[in-house]
Amino acid sequence: MDSSNISFTALYTGHVWFEHGMSARFFTSPRSSIMYNAMKPFEYFSKKVVGVNLRDLLLQRHLIMDHRIRQLIENEGVTQIIEIACGLSPRGYTFSKEYPNLRYVEADLPGMASRKKSLLEEEGGLADNHEVVTCNFFESGAPSGLDYVLQEVLDTSRPTIIITEGLINYFDLDTISGVWSQMQSLSSVFPNAWYLTDLMPRLKHSAAYKYVRIGEKLIGKIARADVNLHYSGNQEIFDGFQACGFSETTVHQPEDYYDTLPIPQSRSESVVRVVEAKV
Ligand SMILES: C[S@@+](CC[C@H](N)C(=O)[O-])C[C@H]1O[C@@H](n2cnc3c(N)ncnc32)[C@H](O)[C@@H]1O
Repeated sequence: MDSSNISFTALYTGHVWFEHGMSARFFTSPRSSIMYNAMKPFEYFSKKVVGVNLRDLLLQRHLIMDHRIRQLIENEGVTQIIEIACGLSPRGYTFSKEYPNLRYVEADLPGMASRKKSLLEEEGGLADNHEVVTCNFFESGAPSGLDYVLQEVLDTSRPTIIITEGLINYFDLDTISGVWSQMQSLSSVFPNAWYLTDLMPRLKHSAAYKYVRIGEKLIGKIARADVNLHYSGNQEIFDGFQACGFSETTVHQPEDYYDTLPIPQSRSESVVRVVEAKV
């Protein structure tokens, strides 16, 4: 399956992180800046009228994931992270500096992986504990297959977190569930492993739902890909991940963190979830 067309949306997300003090300027570009400014009226309208917008969703998911990653490093002894479909995520850059004993592997399709590597190299941003590799989770074998990257590139003796962000809703549930089941079974080689991802459920009861559908179509057009909303709520998400073989699943909702993390608050029910699934 060729899913390279969705790399484009990573530019916008990367710019949002930068504008909110979560990333470095060298991850932005004139194109990302144009996208960011062009989206401002939509973001404003959406927040004003619907109570949620794409920008808040991007910040909510990223901050909750960062928070859980720190907790897993500090309390559960995680010493290795792989961020699949890393795009322009600043995490490899920031976490590898913040935790010198952590090994951080960023992975993406060849085009994005080489772009990321060049950006980091130009800034002297690749430390000994930080690397960028190619990965296509629909492939198997060297050099980019999911099996090869998880079991040969990674150190299988280390407690590990596997991350995907901003990716899942571009695939239908059958397709992505197949990837999750494979990821779960391949990750049983680690002493402990967690999979952390965000996803947007199909919250038909939510006041924001009809606007989410409009946003879904808009993003689908920009990314030239279908956007799929999976599961109708937290219980279905839990059941879905358990059915893929994960032993413990926790669904984090932005509202749970309004009092403890500096995350933007939605006026209506938030539309993104962070799923933490233990292998
Ligand atoms: C929408 S972007 C998300 C990037 C980043 N994680 C973020 O939150 O902005 C999707 C990323 O997935 C990568 N990607 C698409 N299909 C993939 C696949 N089959 N295997 C690995 N990465 C893939 C793209 O190259 C792109 O960088």
